[in-house]
Amino acid sequence: MKKNYLLTPGPTPLPPEVLEALAKPMIHHRTPQFQAILKEAVDGLKYVYQTKSDVYIFSSSGTGAMEAAVCNLLSPGDSAITVESGKFGERWTELCSAYGIKAEVIKVPWGKAVTATDIKSHIAHRTSHIKAVFVTLCETSTGVTTDIKSIANALKDTDTVLVVDAISGLGVIDLKTDDWGVDVVVSGSQKGLMLPPGLGFISVSQKAGKLVNESKSPRYYFDLRAAKKAWEQTDTPFTTSVSLVVALNAALKMIKTEGLENVFNRCKKMAEAVKAAAKALGLKLYAEESYASNAITAVCVPSGIDGEKLVKTMRDTYGITIAGGQAELKGKVFRVASMGYLNEFDIILALSCLEKILHQMGYAFQLGSGIKAAQEVFLK
Ligand SMILES: Cc1ncc(COP(=O)(O)O)c(C=O)c1O
Repeated sequence: MKKNYLLTPGPTPLPPEVLEALAKPMIHHRTPQFQAILKEAVDGLKYVYQTKSDVYIFSSSGTGAMEAAVCNLLSPGDSAITVESGKFGERWTELCSAYGIKAEVIKVPWGKAVTATDIKSHIAHRTSHIKAVFVTLCETSTGVTTDIKSIANALKDTDTVLVVDAISGLGVIDLKTDDWGVDVVVSGSQKGLMLPPGLGFISVSQKAGKLVNESKSPRYYFDLRAAKKAWEQTDTPFTTSVSLVVALNAALKMIKTEGLENVFNRCKKMAEAVKAAAKALGLKLYAEESYASNAITAVCVPSGIDGEKLVKTMRDTYGITIAGGQAELKGKVFRVASMGYLNEFDIILALSCLEKILHQMGYAFQLGSGIKAAQEVFLK
């Protein structure tokens, strides 16, 4: 009998509470009943976002919220900084170019993170005005976390807005939107928030709100002016994903009950356990340790082992789905998630399967050493 386990960086497993909420009978979205649900969802999102600003919900994947950020803040011909240190950072550049925005790309070697100094020195050497800086909280393709606090601090007294892709980081890694002064945070439903894919979220600070009114970019479905106007009536401009919003409240309730800080610590511990296990197995971590993410760990495939086969065998033979490498990392790394509805025993289980397959593939190591190292992290 094969049982299925999901340890990918999205979608993540769905808790029973979320599944139950998804099964509730449909209600109409323009009703007082749904207005109450929507208000509860936005209030809950503000808690996870650590912001007092409104958070808008789109029926889209996370990329929809990224697109909303670009087209609502900037106009054709404007200049912005994008940071490319992995596959998802590149998306900011592609979105800017789709809207005729001049993306000044800071390229960072994969496995490392951009620093506030990199951004400050880039801005200092420009004559054109940089209206926005686009960064990624957790670069899911490499398992690297960016120091958002320092970057926000560097931009605090300027008129440049900071936009953060927290699609794989929200509800996993601490991000103090208001305290740190982050202007726009985009996210999605299918990772730390333990929901199916299908909702995109965006928070907008007052500073960013001004740009929303000034932008000359074409926009319709993702027009934040329409979203704001509708929200003034506790409504959405278009038919929203009613069932997903109902389920969002179930997930947010779980996060509130556990406490945001405890959620961050649980994810951190799981990530530490994966890292400790990888090292005990003699495997190299892809990200430099000082940048390593608590949401996802990328582990280098040892030489002589077929990385794609390893991931495929875990999934197809044993039902345990982890992620392989993306783009230039295809076959070179495997990635284990530590986000959402996962706990220490899910990690132990995945590691035991990993050990079994590495052993079967002829990789030499002491059987059980990875699990032991992980157990020691959890026992601390
Ligand atoms: C950091 C990051 N940004 C953007 C995306 C794209 O999100 P979506 O696939 O929900 O559009 C992902 C998805 O994995 C991600 O991890």
